[in-house]
Order: sequence, then structure tokens, then C-alpha cells
Amino acid sequence: MAEMRNIPQHIAVIMDGNGRWAKLRGKKRNEGHIAGMEALQRTVYNAASAGVKYLTVYAFSTENWGRPQEEVDALMELVCKGVEMHAPELKKQGVSVRTIGDKSRFSEKVRGALDRIEAFTAGGELMTLVLALNYSSRSEIVATMQELARKAAAGEIKAEEIDEKMISSSLYTAGIPDPDLIIRTSGEYRLSNFLMWQASYAEFYFTDVLWPDFNDEELQKAIDAFSARDRRYGLVK
Ligand code: IPE
Ligand code: IPE
Ligand code: MG
Repeated sequence: MAEMRNIPQHIAVIMDGNGRWAKLRGKKRNEGHIAGMEALQRTVYNAASAGVKYLTVYAFSTENWGRPQEEVDALMELVCKGVEMHAPELKKQGVSVRTIGDKSRFSEKVRGALDRIEAFTAGGELMTLVLALNYSSRSEIVATMQELARKAAAGEIKAEEIDEKMISSSLYTAGIPDPDLIIRTSGEYRLSNFLMWQASYAEFYFTDVLWPDFNDEELQKAIDAFSARDRRYGLVK
């Protein structure tokens, strides 16, 4: 009975396998990223239809700068094109877009496109789409520690006041509830520096499906698996 399912409020996805998807088809890696963008578009609407309120997607890690320049350039181009192309429909559907990560490393063009879509879709109440771009968990924690240390040095906070709540509300993800379910595609079983603080009590779902092949059926399988889990949070039930 579909109605009895427990829908995760926040799903985070490590969208992996674009390169292998392309290789399997004798295509260039960039074509895998284009197909991955289409999978993302589907997943946004599928997740929103399922009742998910926050969808966070790992789109570009701090480590991904180390890929060949041609691939990095193509990914940046895809980010710009993608946000420009999808902004009207996202707004129409009530999807608000937010980014996490250090945007200062992006070109003015990419930063501008991201700033525009965040402002344009602000207030959308159907679902929040969180794009993790130039994101890594460790760099997020470093940035947060530096900010809190500065505040302490300036006398704005006391060291003893730093608690879990203050750290959570100082991370890039401030105001976003922790992910309930983290999905990773392409048969890899690692976090790759994604949401390490926020994932403390997340449920994990791994699938061999490559990201460009991810569809509603796969999303429903992940939600079904989540729904069958018993989240105990360290307690006895
Ligand atoms: C994920 O697919 C997309 C990004 C990291 C940008 P990959 O590009 O990592 O694909 P594989 O892992 O090489 O197949
Ligand atoms: C993680 O995928 C980052 C994104 C999905 C954006 P990677 O393909 O970069 O991670 P590793 O190298 O397999 O750990
Ligand atoms: Mg990969």
C-alpha cells in the first residue's frame, strides 16, 4: 500500500557513473554528463511528486577540479546551461534552488547563473533542490570552524557556547534538515567527502544503476527500502 510508505523528507544523492555510462556506449565522458543532467531533471520532478521536501545532489566536488581541464570546462558549461534552461519550469513547479559549497572558486559566469536561479526560485514551496557545487564535507567544516573561531576571537560568542546546534546552523546546509536517505549510484560504496556531519543518522541506499539510467522506478525502490528500515537512533524499541 503506497499510502503507508514512509517518505523521506530529505533525500541526498551522490550522482555517480556518468563517465562509465558514456564509455559503455562508446561516447565521450561529457555525453555521460549530459545524460546525467537529464536524469537529474527527471529525479527532481519524481522526488517532488513522491512528497520529498529536500533533494540534495552532489554535482561537483572540490576534488573534481583535478579532472582533465576539458571535462571541468564542459561541466561548468553544463551547470550554466542547465540552470538557465530549467529555471522557468522549476519556478513554475515551486522548486526553490539553493547551492552549498564555495562558490568563490567559480567563474563570474557560473556564479552569476547560480545566484540568478537562487534568487529567481526563492520561496518555492513544493521542494528545495540543493545543488552541492565545489562542495566537500571537510572544506565545509574548515570554513565553519574558521567562522566560529573568528566570532569567538571577536567576542561575539564564547567557546563554551559552541554546540551541535550552533555548528549545524553555521554549515553551508544551515536551515536544511539532515538527510534521511542518501542514495549512491554506480555500485560505489563510499561518501567521497559528502555531508559527513549531516549524515550521522542517514539511511544509505546503494544501487549498481549508473546515474544517467536512474529513473522513477529506481527512486521508488530506494524509497521502499528506506520505508522498511527501522531507525533506532541508538535507542531500544
Ligand atoms: C558523476 O559521474 C558526475 C561527477 C562526478 C561530476 P562520474 O563522472 O564520476 O562518472 P564515473 O564515476 O567516472 O563513471
Ligand atoms: C563523487 O563522485 C562526486 C560527485 C558525484 C559530484 P566521484 O566520482 O568524484 O567520487 P570518487 O572519485 O569515485 O570517490
Ligand atoms: Mg565517479
